[in-house]
Amino acid sequence: MTSGDSRQGSTASSSNLTAKSGLGSFTLVKYFSFSSLAVILVFTLLLSWFISNNARKIMLEQNEEYSLLLAENINQQVFRRFVLPAVIRYGGIALRKPEQFDMLDAVIKSITQGLEIDSVTIYDSSMNIISYSTLPELVGKKDIGAVEYYKALEGIPNSKLNYNGSVLSLVHITERVHCQLKTFIPFRQVRRDGDEGQLIMGVIEIEKDLSRSYANIIRFQGRIIIVSSVLMGILFLVLRYIVSRAGEKIEKRALERQRLEEKLNQAERLAHLGTMVATVSHEIKSPLGIVRSTAEILAKRIQKIAPGNEHLAQIVVDETVRLNNIVVEFLDFAKPQKAHLEPCSVNTIVRKVLEFLSQELKNKRIDLVFDLAPGLPENNIDKNLFYRALLNILINSLQAMPEGGELKVTTHRSQTGVTEVVIGDSGPGMSEDKCNQIFKPFFTDRHKGTGLGLAITKSIIESHGAEIRVESQEGMGTTFVITMPLQS
Ligand SMILES: Nc1ncnc2c1ncn2[C@@H]1O[C@H](COP(=O)(O)OP(=O)(O)OP(=O)(O)O)[C@@H](O)[C@H]1O
Ligand SMILES: [Mg+2]
Repeated sequence: MTSGDSRQGSTASSSNLTAKSGLGSFTLVKYFSFSSLAVILVFTLLLSWFISNNARKIMLEQNEEYSLLLAENINQQVFRRFVLPAVIRYGGIALRKPEQFDMLDAVIKSITQGLEIDSVTIYDSSMNIISYSTLPELVGKKDIGAVEYYKALEGIPNSKLNYNGSVLSLVHITERVHCQLKTFIPFRQVRRDGDEGQLIMGVIEIEKDLSRSYANIIRFQGRIIIVSSVLMGILFLVLRYIVSRAGEKIEKRALERQRLEEKLNQAERLAHLGTMVATVSHEIKSPLGIVRSTAEILAKRIQKIAPGNEHLAQIVVDETVRLNNIVVEFLDFAKPQKAHLEPCSVNTIVRKVLEFLSQELKNKRIDLVFDLAPGLPENNIDKNLFYRALLNILINSLQAMPEGGELKVTTHRSQTGVTEVVIGDSGPGMSEDKCNQIFKPFFTDRHKGTGLGLAITKSIIESHGAEIRVESQEGMGTTFVITMPLQS
C-alpha cells in the first residue's frame, strides 16, 4: 500500500468513525427518549392510582362521619322514645315480646326512613347476641359481633370497610365492585341533660352500602388511566415520528459528509497525480524534440549514404510526433490552461475546424452536412481552447467512421435562447453504459488512444461555463451537444 493509500484509508475510516459516532450518540438520544417516555407512563399510572385512592379515602371518611352521627342519633332517639317508655310501661326491656320489638322497630324505621342505610342492628351487651335488626333473619343470632363489637363495648366507636373489585372489574376480568361500611358505636344510657352516660347497654351497628360511590371512583380511575394512556400514546407516536425523521436526517448528513470527504480525497489524489504527470511529461518533451530533429537530420543524411532506407528515419520521426501528441495531451489534462475569454461567434471556430479537417473528411469519404445559424450572438470564448475541444470531438467522429459515413454539424439558438453546437456522426454509436464513461479520464477503447480527449474537452467546455452532453445508441450514430451559457 502506498502512503497515499494509507492516508486515504485512515481518512475514510475516520470519516466512518465520525458518521458512526454521530449515529451512536443519536441512538443514545433515541433510547433515552423512549425510556423517559416509559418513566412518564409509569408515573402517570401511579398518579392516577394516587388520585383515585385519595378520592376513596375522602369518600370513606365522609361516610364514616355520617354513620357515626346517625348512630348517635339512633342512640338518643331509641333511649328516649323506646327504652324509657318501655321501662315505664312494661317495667323492663324484653325485646322477645313482639309489642316491645314492634315499638323499637317503629322508632328505628322512623329515624332511618329516607336515609341510605342498609340495616341497623343492636347487639346485647352481655352475650354477643343480636337483640334487634332491621334484617329479621339476624335477630337472635349469637356471636356474630367480632373485634369491632368488643371495641365498641369498651366505649370506642369504630368502623369496618369490606370492599372488593378494581379497575379490572370494569372489563369484567375480576369480581364485581362491592363496598360496604359497617359502623359500630356503644349504645349508651342518655342522661336527663341529653348527654350520654357511662353505662353501655349494647352496641349499635349501622351498615351502609357504598358500592355505587366506590364503582364511580373505580370508573374515574379507569378514565384517568385511559386518558393518560391515550395521551402517552400520542406523545409516543409524535416523539417516534420526530426521532425517526431526525434519524433519517442525521444518517443522510453523515453519508453526505462521507461522500464529500471521499470526493475531496480523490481530488487531492488527482491533483498530486496531475503534478506528477505534468513534471514527467515536461521532462520527456524536450528530449523528445531533440530525438525528432535528430531523426529528421538523419533522414536527410541517410538519403545520401544509404538511399532507400529513408523510411526507417521517417518511422522515428512519426513515432516521436505521436509520442509528442500524447505528452501534450497529458500536459493539457494535468495542467489545464487558463481560458482567456473574448467575444467571438462559435460559427467562426466551427468553420475553422471544419476547414482544417476538410482534406481528412475527403480521404475518409465522409459526407459533411453543416448548417450554421446566421446572426448568432457572440459568446465569451478562448478561441484556441474551444478549437481544440471541437477538434477532439470531430476527430473521435472521424475515427468512428473508418469506412466513411455522414458528419452533421449545426449551430442554432435553442428555445431557451442559448446557442447550441451539435456534432453528429453515423458511426457505430455507444451503449448507455459507455456513454456514462467516455468523459472520464483514461477511458478509451482505441488501441492508440490515451482516453484523455473527451476529458480535456469537457474541462475546456466547462471552463467556458458551457455544458456538453452525448446522445447515442448502439448502431444509431453519436451526437454531441454543446450548450453555451446565456450571455448577459
Ligand atoms: N463519436 C464517437 N462514436 C463512437 N465512440 C466514441 C465517439 N467519441 C468517443 N467515443 C468513445 O469514447 C472513448 C473516449 O474518447 P476520448 O476522445 O476521450 O479518447 P480516445 O479517442 O480513445 O483517445 P484520445 O485521448 O487519443 O482522444 C473512445 O475511445 C470511444 O470509444
Ligand atoms: Mg479522442
